[in-house]
Amino acid sequence: MCGIFGYTGKKEAMDILTNGLAQLEYRGYDSAGICMVNDDHNLYIIKAVGRVMELKNKTNWIKLTWYTTGIGHTRWATHGSVTENNCHPHTSSDARFAVVHNGIIENHSELKMILEDQGYVFYSETDTEVVVKLFEYLFNGDNLRALRKLTSVIEWAYALVFIDREKPSMLFGAKLGSPLVIGKNKENAWYVSSDYKSLIGLVDEYITLEDGDIFCIENGECKIINRWVEFIRDKEHIIETEQIMELWDFPHFMLKEIYEQGQVLRNVFAGRIDFKTKTINNITLNEVVTQGFERVHIIASGTSYHAGCLGRQYLENLANLPTEVSVSTEFKYGTQFIDKKTLYIFVSQSGETADSLESMKVVKEKWGYTFGIINVPGSSIARLAHAWLFTHAGTEVWVASSKAFTAQIATFLILALAFGQKRNLENTKFISILTDMEKLPARIEKLLQTSDQIRLIAEKYAPYLNFFYLGRSYELPIAMEGSLKLKELTYRHSEAYSSGELKHGPLALIDANFPSIIVNGSWPLYSKNLSSVQEIKSRGGKVIGVIADNDVNKNLYDDFLIFESSLRETEVFSETVILQLFAYHMADVLGRDIDKPRNLAKSVTVE
Ligand code: AGP
Repeated sequence: MCGIFGYTGKKEAMDILTNGLAQLEYRGYDSAGICMVNDDHNLYIIKAVGRVMELKNKTNWIKLTWYTTGIGHTRWATHGSVTENNCHPHTSSDARFAVVHNGIIENHSELKMILEDQGYVFYSETDTEVVVKLFEYLFNGDNLRALRKLTSVIEWAYALVFIDREKPSMLFGAKLGSPLVIGKNKENAWYVSSDYKSLIGLVDEYITLEDGDIFCIENGECKIINRWVEFIRDKEHIIETEQIMELWDFPHFMLKEIYEQGQVLRNVFAGRIDFKTKTINNITLNEVVTQGFERVHIIASGTSYHAGCLGRQYLENLANLPTEVSVSTEFKYGTQFIDKKTLYIFVSQSGETADSLESMKVVKEKWGYTFGIINVPGSSIARLAHAWLFTHAGTEVWVASSKAFTAQIATFLILALAFGQKRNLENTKFISILTDMEKLPARIEKLLQTSDQIRLIAEKYAPYLNFFYLGRSYELPIAMEGSLKLKELTYRHSEAYSSGELKHGPLALIDANFPSIIVNGSWPLYSKNLSSVQEIKSRGGKVIGVIADNDVNKNLYDDFLIFESSLRETEVFSETVILQLFAYHMADVLGRDIDKPRNLAKSVTVE
């Protein structure tokens, strides 16, 4: 969701900026733009609606010299439609300053009215144009002083990066709520970005800005003035050399990430489970399970919320811990009952989701103990949590989540087993689950070999416009996540329900054109699910079963997708992979833009 990329150094900025924006494409966007400044004090702006490739095409015929400082932006529209006019960078009335912005300025309407009274005229519908015009209004010759004044007036959230036509080697900006990192290389070139991963290969060290930081890079020096410390003392990370953007032989990143899930599971288990001694051992886990928590409250959004719903099942069934799950979009605005006996778990792939981050702040303000299940070290949620477990899924590049979900539910299973050991989980059950978990990575890799069979079923159902995804107990969150994948990737309508709920209303929708996918492994509610299948069939509905290989009722289904039967706790992993592949193949058959679904952003940094 909105990406920022900035550069100042000795090279021409144009290609550096467009290449940087290409690295941020995964965040989701609908238009892109860059603005550069040269030593002769000229600003050069190029904008395009659509992909970064369209912006690049526009730059192909342009030859610039000495435009060695610039800012770029991928915009995910919030204020104003998707037009070049609304696209960033935005400029001051005198075209001296240009800015890019990630976030939402909540008081922009009031500020705009004040500026209009002062005679300012606006060309766009954006809150960002208000920021740059307000900056112009506050500017009295000192960029940082004006920036400090600006940040005391605008209401967050923001990551802002400015350039100044009169100071061609200066980049300056501020961060509150939305992420921003600054990196530097040995040639003393400086980069600013929404995501450190986009700086891999470009810089040797970087710093993640904290909320409230204001920075200024000028003539090869960077100062972070919020706390008046020099950058050099603050440098904190050596950039990894990990290569994240390689597709290898896969047609889409989504498919590549689905195929990585066997290895992801090995990564999640490593350092936490000793399969030889059948023990769970990890410092963070040991600390959290010995703190005497009596309840758990899980807070997350989207796919991470679905992982939390399964986490709840694990924690209640294996650890006997009463657990509540809330979507973070609602949690902050409800009445929160925060107490010291509850463990508040925040689940987030990106670690930057504004709804989850804000909810976490509310819990912390009320002295609740916060625990993150996160995939990005150094992310805002990781930094704010009292303690955390990393999900080790590796970088999830493109919009729809796959391997991050698998890593999240595996982490929840380990957490529930660790709590269970302290809270009377039978040892035989504990051992049998661990024994089966050891086989899980290879089982998932074997299941992935059935991808072509899943594609045949996806092809058959691609013409249908509506789907139910059904399941119960452990399998309801799997159905919910499968339904979300179908929506995101195929733009088909789907709804997830507990199969038991069907008869309480949704059954009215069933006819021959409204197929249902039921997730029905070999466990307690198997027979109840079969009754739901019968209810659908007797009303002329088609049913696709996601079922175990030992299922004796296969002929009940119109079609079925099969996985190797195992334990209730581990079958969900196979079911997940099947539904990911089903959605992926249907989207491919329908010719969708799988890695960049329309309207969506990877990292949702606005509330
Ligand atoms: C799912 O495919 C999406 N990427 C989305 O639902 C995502 O899970 C949600 O926005 C929360 O993101 P987070 O895990 O980074 O907090």
